[in-house]
Amino acid sequence: MASLSPSTINNLTIPQNPQIISNNNLRLRSKKSIISCKNHNNKNENPNNKTPILDRRNMLIGLGGLYGSTLPLITGSPANAEPMAPDVYSCALTDAAWEGSVGDFCCPPKFPREIKEFSFSDYPSPVLKNRRPAHLASKDPEYVRDYSRAIRIMRTDLAPFDPRSFYQQSKIHCAYCDASYPQLNNPDKRMEVHGNWLFASFHRWYLYFFERIMGKMINKPDFALPFWNWDHPDGMRMPEMYKDMDSSLYDSNRDIDHLSSMIDLNYSRASNNNSEIPDYWLTRSNLEVMRKQMVYPSKPSLFFGAEYRLGDDNSNRDLGAGALEISPHNIVHDWTGSGTIRGHQDMGSFWSAGRDPIFYCHHANVDRMWHLWRTELPGRSRVNIRDQDYLNAWFVFYDENANPVKVKVKDSFDIEKLGYTYEKVELPWLFQPRVRPSRPMIITPFTPDETVTFPKALDSVIKIQVRRPSKSLGRTIEEKEEEEEILVIEFELCHADVQFVKFDVYVNDPIDHSNDDEDTKVTPGMAGTYTSLSHRGMPNMSGMKNMTSGEVKRKSSLRLALNLLLAEIGVENDDIIEVALVPRSGTECLDITAVKIEFTSD
Ligand code: C2O
Repeated sequence: MASLSPSTINNLTIPQNPQIISNNNLRLRSKKSIISCKNHNNKNENPNNKTPILDRRNMLIGLGGLYGSTLPLITGSPANAEPMAPDVYSCALTDAAWEGSVGDFCCPPKFPREIKEFSFSDYPSPVLKNRRPAHLASKDPEYVRDYSRAIRIMRTDLAPFDPRSFYQQSKIHCAYCDASYPQLNNPDKRMEVHGNWLFASFHRWYLYFFERIMGKMINKPDFALPFWNWDHPDGMRMPEMYKDMDSSLYDSNRDIDHLSSMIDLNYSRASNNNSEIPDYWLTRSNLEVMRKQMVYPSKPSLFFGAEYRLGDDNSNRDLGAGALEISPHNIVHDWTGSGTIRGHQDMGSFWSAGRDPIFYCHHANVDRMWHLWRTELPGRSRVNIRDQDYLNAWFVFYDENANPVKVKVKDSFDIEKLGYTYEKVELPWLFQPRVRPSRPMIITPFTPDETVTFPKALDSVIKIQVRRPSKSLGRTIEEKEEEEEILVIEFELCHADVQFVKFDVYVNDPIDHSNDDEDTKVTPGMAGTYTSLSHRGMPNMSGMKNMTSGEVKRKSSLRLALNLLLAEIGVENDDIIEVALVPRSGTECLDITAVKIEFTSD
């Protein structure tokens, strides 16, 4: 078996600008062809022998080709009178604080009555800051010195109640991410920036101010955060600079088993131990996770998450995270956090995640994924959401001078206008060939359970046949570009989970998955994954304790793009698809309530 080292992958040349491909190139397979056993016995393990053109063609089949045509208008329901915003004067105790693990409230210092609105002229960026890959920045002693000095000053030199101190900054994340703020003028409803369309913009703004504060501390306004380049083989380990125990960048609440191992971007703590998987295989699996998560979701709602408007009640309903948040974002969090501390603190729980300096490096790469999805991937639907309620939603942060500032989602779209950019590095996942298992395996034919009735507990693999609507069949390229066919999985989950939850979804996959070992998880039929981090927010102010007993379930749903997947596995003309839902972690209290097919144009 040929082995593949990260450096081999590193040398791939990746075409960066997909061209228009003529219709002649778009040959679709008409006949159902579940991936044959031959593929699995393929001796050629070397992804260098990949055929980028073919893969790009596949990608464009799913996207409908026609890169660069006019942009569709993404509109939602009519704008509310007011957009989503926090009532920052009523920050309150959350479950996390109640549990005693925080030791105090998740609230940053009190905001004054007057809060200025952000304007680009008040926050000039004289130079374009260059965010670099953290594994490369780790080799630059001057950079590491500056970076660790900035964090040290924030940790120890600033007064504890200075809103720019590291601890107070971590509380800002906790407050927005564990629902400490009521929604403006809606005292009974909490504001939450996870599991909905606010995720990308909130975290971009959070890093923006954090980075400016760091620059101010060391008097280098051009100081830029590094990004954890986990989408590249060279970046698939914890970057060196965070592992120096004497550095301010160190955090002892991390999984010590992961300090030197390669990350598994499809990790689920309960069901695997990746120390057994050879690095070359994990590299390929990771690249395929990246490709599926970035390329499949062709529409803003699938990538950014569900709409979320002022007045929406998410205390018993998780509106729905987008692909950007679900994976690898959540997975990297849980993989990094402690293997033994409750909730996998720090990184494994939203309330504590901001206490690990690596959080900001991880999120820089999440932010970069947003940027890449917009700028590097083909398809005319990869645009930002244009709904007025989204554009005008706002947050409050503290700036580098400890002044509060109110920022809107719509001002976060252009990173260069915000004064930074990402160093260009190869995107080896963009044209990664489909994953094949690393060694011959026994293929068990897929037999759907005849008798599935919902709701059904996801305590073992669920396999069902799903009939596609008649409009699914024989769609033209334009129709597919216009509307993405999506697989919708609705479920209910115990409310105050303190654990990581994960299940995977496969379509017409030849692998049985009933007792998967690690190297059979990312397979050609993998449609996507659901993950949720330990999340103690959404307190019901009067009855918080009830929330932890498991008797309150939250409704949620997962929406996965099908256009490209079905074309890749050759079943796009089948009227029935076979769906397998595979529990991976923390699904003891999860019931599937529906599996169906819908269409979305935004
Ligand atoms: Cu607000 Cu990665 O979390």
